[in-house]
Amino acid sequence: MNFDFTNEQKMIRQSIKQFVENEIEPIAEEIDRNHRFPRETIKKLGEYGFLALTFPKEYGGAEGDELCKTIVLEEIAKKCGATAGIVSVHYLPINLLLKYGTKEQKEKYIPKLVTGEHIGAFALTEPNAGSDASNVQTTAVLDGDDYVLNGTKCFITNGGEADTYIILAMTDKSKGTKGITAFIVEKDTPGFSIGKIEDKLGICASSTSELIFENCRIPKENMLGKEGKGFKIAMVGLDGGRVGMAAQALGLAKGAFEETVKYLKERNQFGKPLIKFQGLQWYLVEMHSKIESARWLVYHASYLKQSGKPFTKEAATAKLVASETAMFVTHKAVQMHGGYGFMKDYPLERMMRDAKITEIYEGTSEIMKIVIASQITR
Ligand code: CAA
Repeated sequence: MNFDFTNEQKMIRQSIKQFVENEIEPIAEEIDRNHRFPRETIKKLGEYGFLALTFPKEYGGAEGDELCKTIVLEEIAKKCGATAGIVSVHYLPINLLLKYGTKEQKEKYIPKLVTGEHIGAFALTEPNAGSDASNVQTTAVLDGDDYVLNGTKCFITNGGEADTYIILAMTDKSKGTKGITAFIVEKDTPGFSIGKIEDKLGICASSTSELIFENCRIPKENMLGKEGKGFKIAMVGLDGGRVGMAAQALGLAKGAFEETVKYLKERNQFGKPLIKFQGLQWYLVEMHSKIESARWLVYHASYLKQSGKPFTKEAATAKLVASETAMFVTHKAVQMHGGYGFMKDYPLERMMRDAKITEIYEGTSEIMKIVIASQITR
């Protein structure tokens, strides 16, 4: 077993750290305050090659390994949870196109996604299909050479900003999960519009919206994978996505931890720096131990994904532990900053707000327990 990072992974960490310092950290507070989607940052991430990391060279990728992607998300999330979330969700449709797309679909969509020229989104959730993802009510009916989509998706990350959407729709209700099919929908397709843009507790710079389909016709060539395979495609996509979410949560936790150590060294009370107080040191130890546990789970899930081995259980475990760690650590970090932690002059309150979503999206902690239990008990 080798716990060392490769030279490539070390280099990626160094370069993404630099990018975050120059391009992300300086605007993190402003984009949160103004609920502003950082389109220009995503474009730059693409130009620098950070969106192309693991994808094949023939589609503009760099053929790096999964851990490189994890490192990128972790480092971005240390300073901006919203930007990490945007990037993590952007990777999901690229992964699905790569795995299930036809040659034509890959050639058409992937190059623009990996350069950041286009943004991707994944639309499974509906008002009545949240944790119960099988209860999709958006329909897709074949009519000549087109499928006609009707229905509403909700809580879609990158909704309204994305150019390429992977949509899950019911093509045969009588078949249950085997009646769900995946489709690629482009942003300007007639009959497709953006509904309510959500106002959220955290990750305010990311866009979360409804998607509305009203007799939206898409050519049948836009089916992704085979008819009736959409639920499996969505589950496979979410397995990978959950590793990304776990990396995002890990980064948030590490970012808040580093801020806290720095603050405790600088701040004097009762005649000495706060870092000298044993009670606070013990909090730091608890935070550190949880972060280390999460870190190795996240890296291990990335390794399994890279190796082509099953990783459903490990992805869910990493997401469960890392997201609960992010919530624990950011909450404690606010507390340890006292009044300053509560003020918007410091990034801690934003980190705490941003951490909460990692326990919810791409499967709640409760769903992660269902996934893990089903793997352990089968
Ligand atoms: N990989 C491959 N196939 C899988 C799978 C996986 N990880 N998980 C399930 N399947 C397959 C099963 O093998 C089964 O196939 P067969 O019928 O051929 O045996 C089929 O899918 C149905 O599986 P289940 O019976 O287990 O399905 P279920 O209805 O009981 O649901 C669930 C299981 C795990 C609870 C699932 O519904 C789930 O993951 N729910 C949470 C959904 C979720 O994460 N939503 C978030 C959406 S995205 C988001 O957050 C917003 C965003 O913008 C990113």
